This record gives sequence, C-alpha cells and structure tokens, in this order.
Amino acid sequence: MTAARPTIGIIGLGAMGLGIAQVFAAAGHPVRATDASPDSRATALSRLSASLQPRIDKSAMTEGDRAALLSRLTVTDRVEDIAPAEMVVEAIVERLPAKQSVFTLLEDHLSPHAVLATNTSSLSVAAIARGLAHPERLLGLHFFNPAPVMRLVELIPHAGTTPQALSTARTLTEAAGKTVIQCADRPGFIVNRCARPYYGEALALLEEGRSPQDIDAAMRAAGYRLGPFALIDLIGADINLAATESLSAAMGNHPRYHVFTALKAQVERGALGRKTGTGFTLPAIDAPPPPD
Ligand code: NAI
Repeated sequence: MTAARPTIGIIGLGAMGLGIAQVFAAAGHPVRATDASPDSRATALSRLSASLQPRIDKSAMTEGDRAALLSRLTVTDRVEDIAPAEMVVEAIVERLPAKQSVFTLLEDHLSPHAVLATNTSSLSVAAIARGLAHPERLLGLHFFNPAPVMRLVELIPHAGTTPQALSTARTLTEAAGKTVIQCADRPGFIVNRCARPYYGEALALLEEGRSPQDIDAAMRAAGYRLGPFALIDLIGADINLAATESLSAAMGNHPRYHVFTALKAQVERGALGRKTGTGFTLPAIDAPPPPD
C-alpha cells in the first residue's frame, strides 16, 4: 500500500495559484485552496477543468484522469479550512502587507510543523516572514507561468529558514516533477533579475517607435520561445510592473531596472494581457474581427 500524500494548501486561485494547485493535484496530493474573491472560488474548478481540455483533445489525458485530478482539489471559503495542509503555497496579490496578513492568519490554524511558502516574484522573503511567531518555517517557492508547464521552481530561504522546512519544500516540489534551484533572498532571485533587462530593452525600443509585433517576431526568429511583449501579456503587465518597481527600489533605482512609461501606461489603461484580453500583442492583429 502506498502512503497517503500530504495535503497541500493554496491561497489565491488566480493564474499562478490554480496552476500550482494543478501541479500538486496531478502528483496525487489532496489540495485545499481558497481565494478572497467569491468569483475566483466559484470558478476555480471549471477553470481548471477547461485548462485540461487541450490535453484531452490531444489524448494526453483521459476524462477519467481529469475527473480524478479535479476530485483532489477542494475549494474552501475560509483560510481555516486549509488547516490539514503540511505545506501552504501563497499566490495572492504581490503586496507585502497582504502577504504578511495571510501568513499571520495561517499561523493560527496550521500545525506548527507545516511549511509556509510564498510564490512572490519580487518581494523579500525575509520581509514577508517578519512579524510571524514562527518565521523559521517560511520560505519562497517561486513557480513560473504557466506552473503546470514550466519545470523550474526557485527555492528561497531567508536567513532564519530551517533546513527541515527547505528539505520538505524541495522534496514535495521535486516529487511533483519540478527542477528546484535554490536562490539567495535577493531582489528578483535569479530569473526575474536576468529577465528585467530583456523586458527593459524591448520597452526602450518600443518607446523609440518599434512595434511590439516587430520586436517579438525578431526575438522569436532569433531563437527565443516567446517575444518580450507576448511574455508580458502572459505574465500580466500589472505583475510585470510590480516586479520591476520592486526590483528597481531594492537596487537603489539602478538604470538596469528602469520602470518604463510604456509599461506603466499599459497598466493604467487596464491592458494587462491575457487576463483582460487586451495587451501589447492582444488581441492578435491577425485575429478575426469581433462580431457586431
Ligand atoms: P492573479 O491576479 O492572477 O491572482 C491573484 C489571486 O489572489 C486573485 O484570484 C485574488 O482574488 C486573490 N487574492 C488577492 N488578495 C487575496 C487575499 N488577501 N487572500 C486570498 N486571496 C487573495 O495573480 P497571479 O499572476 O496568479 O500572481 C500571484 C502571485 O504569484 C504574485 O505574488 C505574483 O508576483 C506571483 N507570480 C506571478 C507570476 C505570473 O507570471 N503571473 C509568475 C510567478 C509568480
């Protein structure tokens, strides 16, 4: 008989939280998840089901596999209901006070040994842990978008994280099929730090008058899987801006992390990419016109 897999908790059922829930449910874990938005909670299972449809269409998954995966995800209304989890991954809005409040609330309900993980892209893991009664079990576990597809997960201890918490997070994440790379708790960790100049130069070219389509086409033909603007639309311009601002502030406003007006304007006009249906590359220029 195989041992039951530990329960995983997820806070935030947006693009990342739902994807991370899928990763652990696909690996056989019971997953308990919640979100502050009733709409997000109500639609989570149908969104997950729909996201698996392409795999069913390609015969990479059966209807039975999908039903089994969905049956492992329980969406709850209250953070308290996450209590049986041995590891909780937080994937809410990228704001320090919001993340700190979630972990403070979780501490009251979880076992003292449960691992607390944040999916932050750009905030300091130490700052998120500050103020907790047991900061030593908090760490960063940074999945990439889309979480079920991207192999890399950055694992980020702060100075006080225990080796046990790190080992539990690594073991569970690797067993779910991911490649785990440990990073220092420095702004942008590894990938977001390296990616900032990629977006930055593309935004500089845009402000010099090049089109996002030309820039993306050039970078794809040069061998990149996605151009910088399709990537911003996938990630969300709001998330990309928050990461850039956070990195820029943490690096003393170094010009390498310049916050471009073109990115800020995109967020101000609500053209956030896939989540709003409009963005630098959306709607696609060769898309059929919308019906009258
Ligand atoms: P999203 O905007 O798609 O989803 C965030 C979800 O959190 C929403 O459903 C919202 O209702 C919920 N939420 C907000 N405040 C909450 C609270 N206090 N309690 C419970 N739920 C709450 O955002 P996304 O893209 O999923 O990002 C989430 C986190 O993951 C952020 O920290 C972001 O920086 C990080 N991240 C994002 C990546 C991306 O490409 N979008 C990649 C890697 C990390």
